Amino acid sequence: MTPPDAMPHRHHHEHAAGFGEHLDREAELARELTGWALDLATTALGAPARSAIDLGAGTGAGTLALAHRFSDAQVHSLDLSPELLERLASAAEAAGVAGRVHRHLVDLDEDWTGVVPEHVDLAWTSLSLHHVADPERVLERTLAVLRPGGVLVITEMTSTLAFAPDDLGVGRPGLARRLTRALAASGYPPTADWTAPLAAAGFRAAPPEVRELTVRGDPSGKDYLAGQFAAWQERLADQLDAADLGALAAVEHDLRAGASPLTATSGRVVWVAARP
Ligand SMILES: C[S@@+](CC[C@H](N)C(=O)[O-])C[C@H]1O[C@@H](n2cnc3c(N)ncnc32)[C@H](O)[C@@H]1O
Repeated sequence: MTPPDAMPHRHHHEHAAGFGEHLDREAELARELTGWALDLATTALGAPARSAIDLGAGTGAGTLALAHRFSDAQVHSLDLSPELLERLASAAEAAGVAGRVHRHLVDLDEDWTGVVPEHVDLAWTSLSLHHVADPERVLERTLAVLRPGGVLVITEMTSTLAFAPDDLGVGRPGLARRLTRALAASGYPPTADWTAPLAAAGFRAAPPEVRELTVRGDPSGKDYLAGQFAAWQERLADQLDAADLGALAAVEHDLRAGASPLTATSGRVVWVAARP
């Protein structure tokens, strides 16, 4: 594992405690979806990638999937969070791919093109592009570092979000609907449409493809969902009444106890675009 680039102080960026763990759990649950997006990338490239960049890499969900799929590839992981990049480093070490993973502590809103190689085969950005202040500029810079024929894969969430059963298993009829409505009003899920910006930046993009991710309150997804329900009680404190907030706490409790029938379904959209 190469050390991260030197970091000016203004880049320092802290995430809420537990965010890295949340990203790791999400990576595990989204493994199949990530595989599908990698299939799309592989088809678009026509040959295995030998260099890849992961923009807003977080704890390395994409980085590790890229390194596994393309066993000869050097993977460059860019993020502005030192804590998340540290976690990425440990994960790459544990996965035995540290020698091909290169961390770069950078703000994607600044000029990061100098830290990655020229003529990159594959650029990957998952649930990150909507975070940057100037995504159009990031797309232009991505086009500039890709080789002609190089491919960019962007993943975002769609507005689809649904919970079952309707009472979330705690006996409050209509709670599922009130929760999704309150979350939408608070800006969750974050959505973005990159079709026009991709074209404006000079990419040739296929129509976006959509998939659903279903997470269950069984051992596979209970900790992830419990974390979300914990966060949402705070986030929605001003939007739901006390009885509904209490019910969200009960859902969290049932999840942690392994006794919740909850299922959550959310949407993902993937753009695959090439540098002409
Ligand atoms: C929701 S996480 C997604 C992480 C990872 N791509 C994944 O799929 O698990 C968004 C990531 O974007 C990073 N990020 C947000 N704004 C950024 C910026 N301006 N420059 C670099 N990274 C940024 C955050 O630190 C975080 O790791």
